Amino acid sequence: MPDRIFSEDTFKNKNVIISGGAGDIGMEIATAFAKAGANKIALLDNDVEQLDKAINTLKNVGCDAIKIEVDLSDESSIENSVKELYSKADCWDILITTAGIFIGGPLTDYKADDWDTLMKINARSVFLLSRLIAKKMIELGHGKIIHIGSSSTYYGTPGSGVYAASKVVINQLTQTMAVEWGPHNIQVNAICPTVTETKFLKFVAGDALHEKLRENLKNKMPLKRLLKPCDIAPAVLFLAS
Ligand SMILES: NC(=O)c1ccc[n+]([C@@H]2O[C@H](COP(=O)([O-])OP(=O)(O)OC[C@H]3O[C@@H](n4cnc5c(N)ncnc54)[C@H](O)[C@@H]3O)[C@@H](O)[C@H]2O)c1
Repeated sequence: MPDRIFSEDTFKNKNVIISGGAGDIGMEIATAFAKAGANKIALLDNDVEQLDKAINTLKNVGCDAIKIEVDLSDESSIENSVKELYSKADCWDILITTAGIFIGGPLTDYKADDWDTLMKINARSVFLLSRLIAKKMIELGHGKIIHIGSSSTYYGTPGSGVYAASKVVINQLTQTMAVEWGPHNIQVNAICPTVTETKFLKFVAGDALHEKLRENLKNKMPLKRLLKPCDIAPAVLFLAS
């Protein structure tokens, strides 16, 4: 992957919000936007330590990086984060939603509380955050929204059923958002990556199984390798451009 696909001013004057922005994929996307000249980048996350590191990295690229601590499982926290966003800038042009968690397990044993926890972050928060931002984008007359879904929506994988179901919600929401908000000049898309080398993968398998899982998954891929966050970021920037 070349270091630069987009010019240094592709996103000049554009303000970008990234939920889950302290995560591996979120951070890669944020850095790519910073290198492509984004004006302000707001990272929304609940991992304060990673958030501080991410903000410093963006500042080193010369970007006006804004840290927003939020618990995306909590509606009032999402509402407060949006108030904070619009206290920092009147216009946010681009929203990327990347926050997500994985709680695995066979469906017969899956706890209802785990269903709720996972759905709140992976699906409900995307709905709540996007519609608050979309209302503002509708007032402004433009916007781009890109969700990070998952290839797991396209097949069944033992132990991943509820995670995959949460990402199916993203696919459907994307389609409805696109047709409801498209007439207001807001383009909504989703990217559904396959398995990607991030700390998320470690979390899926646990430390002990991580290497074994990686090797198994790699062998199943036509390219015999897993994705890297840098494979995803250019696609996001393309859809936002
Ligand atoms: N890694 C993969 O194999 C893979 C594949 C396809 C899709 N995805 C999706 O990509 C997205 C990013 O994943 P990643 O691999 O970068 O994982 P990651 O764990 O590095 O990033 C996820 C981020 O979401 C944040 N987050 C989780 N719960 C939150 C909450 N309640 N409030 C605020 N922030 C919260 C985390 O702190 C973290 O920074 C996820 O939606 C994931 O489902 C990942």
